[in-house]
Amino acid sequence: MKNYKESIAKEIEKLDIGLDYEKIYNLIELPKTNDMGDFAFPCFSLAKTMRKNPSLIAEDIANKLSIEGIDKIENVNAYVNFFVDRKEVYNQVLNEIIEKKQDYGKSDMGNGINELVEFSSVNIAKPFHIGHIRSTVIGDVIRNIYEYLGYNVIATNYIGDYGTQFGVMIAAYKLWGDKEKIDADPINELLNLYVRYTRESEDNEEYQERARQEFKNLEDGEEEATTLWQWFKDISLREFDRVYSMLDIKYDNYNGEAYSSQFMPAAIEELKEKNLLVESDGALMVDLSDYDLPPSMLIKSNGSSAYITRDVATALHRHETYDLDKNIYVVGSQQKLHFQQLKAILSKMGHKDVSEEVNHVQFGMVSLKDQVLSTRRGHVVFLEDVLNKAIEKTRSIMEDRDNDLEDLDQAAKIVGIGAVKFQELYNSRIKDYIFDWDELLNFEGETGPYVHYTYARAKSVLRKAGKEEFEKMDFSELNTEEEYSLIKSLESFQQAIIQAMNRLEPAVVARKVMEIAQNFNKVYNSTQILVDDEKLKEERLALTYATSIVIKNGLGILGIKTVEQM
Ligand code: ARG
Repeated sequence: MKNYKESIAKEIEKLDIGLDYEKIYNLIELPKTNDMGDFAFPCFSLAKTMRKNPSLIAEDIANKLSIEGIDKIENVNAYVNFFVDRKEVYNQVLNEIIEKKQDYGKSDMGNGINELVEFSSVNIAKPFHIGHIRSTVIGDVIRNIYEYLGYNVIATNYIGDYGTQFGVMIAAYKLWGDKEKIDADPINELLNLYVRYTRESEDNEEYQERARQEFKNLEDGEEEATTLWQWFKDISLREFDRVYSMLDIKYDNYNGEAYSSQFMPAAIEELKEKNLLVESDGALMVDLSDYDLPPSMLIKSNGSSAYITRDVATALHRHETYDLDKNIYVVGSQQKLHFQQLKAILSKMGHKDVSEEVNHVQFGMVSLKDQVLSTRRGHVVFLEDVLNKAIEKTRSIMEDRDNDLEDLDQAAKIVGIGAVKFQELYNSRIKDYIFDWDELLNFEGETGPYVHYTYARAKSVLRKAGKEEFEKMDFSELNTEEEYSLIKSLESFQQAIIQAMNRLEPAVVARKVMEIAQNFNKVYNSTQILVDDEKLKEERLALTYATSIVIKNGLGILGIKTVEQM
């Protein structure tokens, strides 16, 4: 449908209504319902210059125009409505899908442009809990969106493997650590040690000092501290990798906080040279009052670096290493101030370009329906357990349904994990949401299982008809409103992906996939596909086939695989 809007604008311009092409083009709207046409031109703004009632202007324009590819032009009040030749649209869109298949909707607009997407960024020796689903899944989809549009993406997991809490871990392990226990249940045991040490050092000056000393040892590269830290890291990452592999998410690198600390001295040196560090109670701060932000502490009074120090060094390092368009951080909105400060510090250092590269992609909180999520007190809900439960629950729902699935386990895994991801992605990211099992596994709701089921339904229609491959054809028979609505949502698939990229908002893609699934079901419920008329039947099957392809491509961007039967 790419060229209609241009030709409409061009033809209207020829009528000399006192607006140039650009203005006319921008005025053209897409009506909400098919009965108002495919495009509409509102004439309100012309009333003044033409000194005429806008409805009469619209009527006049409608009468004068005739445009190739447009079947009908009529005015409704002050609007000129344009109805395109539907056969032409069917041919354009469906043949493009038939031809491009898994590449339908892709683009090379990102050719040669690099984007860094940092997501998940979990902390070592801490649980990978349900709250982490957000950054992990949203970030992965942002990566997929960019790749689909031809960008080169560097997917980074900025793991939290540095900082004073590792001093705590090392000190605690030296006091009470039990290697066997940790090997048996790494994260829980490490967490126990951490919680115990934090509690016992609350009014124990000596413990506090020990932890600080151990972090200092780590920063100085002392052998025992380093070995313990490396071990904590290895066992934690092994645990995390199980979750990433269940989610089918891969990274280009795990360059986290420890990795980045090697670039700190240079950054601190630069801050000093530029006279940006001011002393306050022994700590070194950057004053950000000219940005209306609170000051930021880069060096603590005991001389160790802070979280923000590593981020300053990281942003500079990423800028130097990759020729970046954007440096994207998918991190919860609680860290909004942190990223504002980061951008401000980089600007003050004179690195406007680095500062502008930094994009904080925020999101709201997830909470469980009847549980609070807290990492500190041990009421932790591990993401791995949630995923396993999703698979289990899906399996039992699918078992009860009448189907002839060959590999129920595999299907339950795809649909179950898909359900968790889809729920995560369906609402705009900035909103908080409540994790609700009944809602996300409702096969009739606006859910992953509903989309999966629709895809499987389309595939089953094709199997039943014995026709699963299609060549380009001349579409001349499709004739219902439902079919036309479906084709329009297939047609706008790529626009949705581009919009999702511009807004860094995966929900736009999830919503488009849902719209396509719903529109297909409207066709399925209102229209017989396997009719006697061979030509009509073939076209309806081709539409079914095209729908299945676009749903599959869309789910693919959302990081969700499909199942052929359900
Ligand atoms: N590990 C941090 C946390 O759990 C998130 C890291 C966000 N990324 C960054 N570059 N600061 O809070």
